Amino acid sequence: MDLVKGKQLFYSLILLSITILVCGRFTPEQIDFYGKECNASQEDLQIAKEYKVPTSELGKCLMKCMISKLGMLNSDGTYNKTGTFEALKQYWQEWPIDKVELINNKCHSEASKASPDVIATCNYAFEVMACINIEAKTLGVL
Ligand SMILES: *[C@@H]1O[C@H](CO)[C@@H](O)[C@H](O)[C@H]1NC(C)=O
Ligand SMILES: *[C@@H]1O[C@H](CO)[C@@H](O)[C@H](O)[C@H]1NC(C)=O
Repeated sequence: MDLVKGKQLFYSLILLSITILVCGRFTPEQIDFYGKECNASQEDLQIAKEYKVPTSELGKCLMKCMISKLGMLNSDGTYNKTGTFEALKQYWQEWPIDKVELINNKCHSEASKASPDVIATCNYAFEVMACINIEAKTLGVL
């Protein structure tokens, strides 16, 4: 990934995290709950609660673990289209269903292009979240 694209993803993820956390999608209790399930360090959890984006490899792995718990990833780490659709519907109830479908279809197809060695990385989860954020903005729901 080139630097500019990386920066855009990073920026998008910051906004996404702020949106998720500030709008109460994840309460501090949920962060603690999922964090414990995901073996997060106290430091990672603190970063999440301060609405910052984990930039460390461990932080990205925590995010991967958390979105897996939300059912967005299959056990092999690939994008679960049904699970992501359900999670988006649940967490972004104000998004029209047709837009949720468009976002899900686009990001599923993007994610399907990744090779198995990429899917195995925590950065893959980071890019899935970034895709959702970018598409949501493109469609004007975020
Ligand atoms: C968390 O740690 C426990 C105990 O060491 C281990 O059994 C479990 O598989 C770990 N979970 C994750 C998601 O890494
Ligand atoms: C994907 O998520 C759906 C809905 O949560 C679940 O029923 C299904 O078993 C998951 N698929 C895989 C391959 O894990």
